[in-house]
Amino acid sequence: MIKLCSTSDIPEGGAKGFEVQGKKLVALNYRDQIYIYENSCPHRSIPLEWQPDQFLDYEKTFIQCATHGALFKIDTGECIAGPCVDDQLNKIEHRCQGDEIYICL
Ligand code: FES
Repeated sequence: MIKLCSTSDIPEGGAKGFEVQGKKLVALNYRDQIYIYENSCPHRSIPLEWQPDQFLDYEKTFIQCATHGALFKIDTGECIAGPCVDDQLNKIEHRCQGDEIYICL
């Protein structure tokens, strides 16, 4: 397990990008749960964001790919709209220990 960050590093209702061992990740704090995915859109295998830490749609209810607008459910990573519908983000297993978040790559 590798320490990623503290839970307080991820804004509530928001997202934060990381790079660990050359792998781009996105961590989200949504409804008091932490979700972590590989930051790679299944449509073109490119990062989801154009601006640092900007991963969500306008209403902050879905992860949105900045390139062609695919929308993904925050809690499952499932694509529900866009060119890769029914595909999904690659979930990264993690464990919260106290305030610290550890991931398994
Ligand atoms: S690269 Fe993400 S929707 Fe096309």
